[in-house]
Amino acid sequence: MMNRWHVLKRLMPLLAGMVLLLSACGRADLSTLRPQGPVAEEQFGLMKLSITIMILVVIVVFAIALYVIIRFRRRPGDKTVPVQVEGNHKLEIIWTVIPIILLIILGVPTIKTVFNLAEDYTKDPNAVQVKVTAHQYWWEFEYPTYGIKTAQELLIPNDAIISVEAKTADVLHSFWIPSLAGKVDTNPGGNVNIMYFEAPNTGVYLGKCAELCGPSHSLMDFKVKVVDRASFERWVAAQKSPVALPSDPEIAEVLTTQCLSCHAVGANGGQLYPNLTGMGSRESVAGILINTDQPQYENEGSVEDNLKKWIKDPQAVKPGTLMPQVPLSDQQLDAIAKYLADLKLNY
Ligand code: CUA
Repeated sequence: MMNRWHVLKRLMPLLAGMVLLLSACGRADLSTLRPQGPVAEEQFGLMKLSITIMILVVIVVFAIALYVIIRFRRRPGDKTVPVQVEGNHKLEIIWTVIPIILLIILGVPTIKTVFNLAEDYTKDPNAVQVKVTAHQYWWEFEYPTYGIKTAQELLIPNDAIISVEAKTADVLHSFWIPSLAGKVDTNPGGNVNIMYFEAPNTGVYLGKCAELCGPSHSLMDFKVKVVDRASFERWVAAQKSPVALPSDPEIAEVLTTQCLSCHAVGANGGQLYPNLTGMGSRESVAGILINTDQPQYENEGSVEDNLKKWIKDPQAVKPGTLMPQVPLSDQQLDAIAKYLADLKLNY
């Protein structure tokens, strides 16, 4: 007996340390455990409720089990056969009724939340409507009300409900902004799933693809940029204003033939692949190369360096991407990266 207590006592600091460590983990821009909006808040509430119930059950069951194991253990020299029990009405009713009560306590708020979160805002004129299309391995965001299409960065105002209609262009993906709202799958076959969320705090939040969709699934990140209403209106206007092609005719020609056959810059170019308008103002290139002036990690760099890295060898950055390796001279690559990095939006 003494030995076992000893072991447990020695484990205590370790367990306490783990609890501390785990409670400290969770970034406000990435964690469901640090909700940043009412929808995430509601979902977190359900998690807390179910975990609390589970912990209570575990504690009670373990306490009873331990008590029985210790109190009724076979003592040295005891050769008697214990009393044989067959059924106990009182106990059976208790351990049937308690789980039913627990399930009701858990079930009522769960069902209420499920219906709350299924609310359809797609016809609500006060909500910001966004059509999300998942592609291997990037996200397209269309704002039908404003006639805007963009990629990898969902810019939204902090004072409205964001109503999402999500679909996929290829395989199964899942749209997830952990600290703002829980996932919605994008299913092949023309199916459209809806969800909504609100983000009252301005800032940048991380979005993820939450469904294994190919070799670059884990790199299928996006950002949600929450700004105030005035900035949002300025962004909408900036997105729609005309963009000039490079002044050097050779570079303009290369850009038009090599890039704008698929991508759009302002009103120029194709719509099938990520829209590059305002590239220089984005948080990342290809969703995964983080734009920063003080790079610390391998996937960080200036917008220009990240663009060069991406254009030069897309497969090295995102295996399986449909972005082809474009035949460009070093000089052309520099000029195109510079041009795209200079495409900034003021908002
Ligand atoms: Cu898309 Cu995982």
